[in-house]
Amino acid sequence: MGSRGSHETYLLSRCLCCGAFYHLGQTIAMDDIFQDHWRLYQKILNEDYMGHREIASFLQQALAPPLKQLRVLELGCGDGDLFFRLTPRVSVGHYVGVDITEFALNIFKERLNEKDDLPVDVRLHHRDMLSFLTQCDDQFDVIVAGYCVHHLSADDKQQLLMSVLPCLKSGGQLFLYDLFLKDTHDKNAYIRDYMAEVRQRWMSLSESEQVMVESHISECDFPETVSSYREWAEGVGYDGFAQVWQGEFWANKIIRFQI
Ligand SMILES: C[S@@+](CC[C@H](N)C(=O)[O-])C[C@H]1O[C@@H](n2cnc3c(N)ncnc32)[C@H](O)[C@@H]1O
Repeated sequence: MGSRGSHETYLLSRCLCCGAFYHLGQTIAMDDIFQDHWRLYQKILNEDYMGHREIASFLQQALAPPLKQLRVLELGCGDGDLFFRLTPRVSVGHYVGVDITEFALNIFKERLNEKDDLPVDVRLHHRDMLSFLTQCDDQFDVIVAGYCVHHLSADDKQQLLMSVLPCLKSGGQLFLYDLFLKDTHDKNAYIRDYMAEVRQRWMSLSESEQVMVESHISECDFPETVSSYREWAEGVGYDGFAQVWQGEFWANKIIRFQI
């Protein structure tokens, strides 16, 4: 990895869609590798391999009327997939989306521009979610973080749980939908079991796409057990903690934190 170009390629090649290279303080132009990873994530979404349909339908029910005009913050909002699945069924008055990948936010903005009668005040921020939270002086009824927190270190996950607290209104809720370890898993067992699932059930992925998934989860994913989150939530003072949804794939879950 001698030249700058190959170094960049190495960093990008670790990233399915997580933007992790930005943590190294680099600004890297979109290139074919990033586009390939982005396309692969879109394929995974379209095939619904990570349970996005059920997740959205769970959240639609959890946030359904009579809850009205919610103030919602979404961390790692990407291109707005969840936003467009939730609205207009969930009554969102004010929505703030934060993501570290500008490319994704630009797609989100294009999608918003196609909807001229959307009755939601939408603000998008190209920021790291932790630094956004620590400087945020706003409060929300609901904060959602989807398939992004597992990219953080254990310390940063705890910092995130702490930083979310002052951003939630009284009675507010944090929904974390993400990838989780089984209690018996170490990282190697997680990768083995995850890839067994991918090979068996993610039938539309080519062999090279499966390799991309494996290299991504090996190098960029740092999932935790539900028990770790429970311990951290109690430690920083959440009043409620519950796993509220389990996907067909064992790794996909939603946890709700309440204050
Ligand atoms: C796997 S995608 C998930 C997108 C969407 N939430 C979903 O459920 O499909 C992860 C998203 O989190 C963003 N992300 C990763 N690390 C981040 C960070 N530290 N701060 C903000 N966004 C981050 C990525 O740019 C990407 O859009």
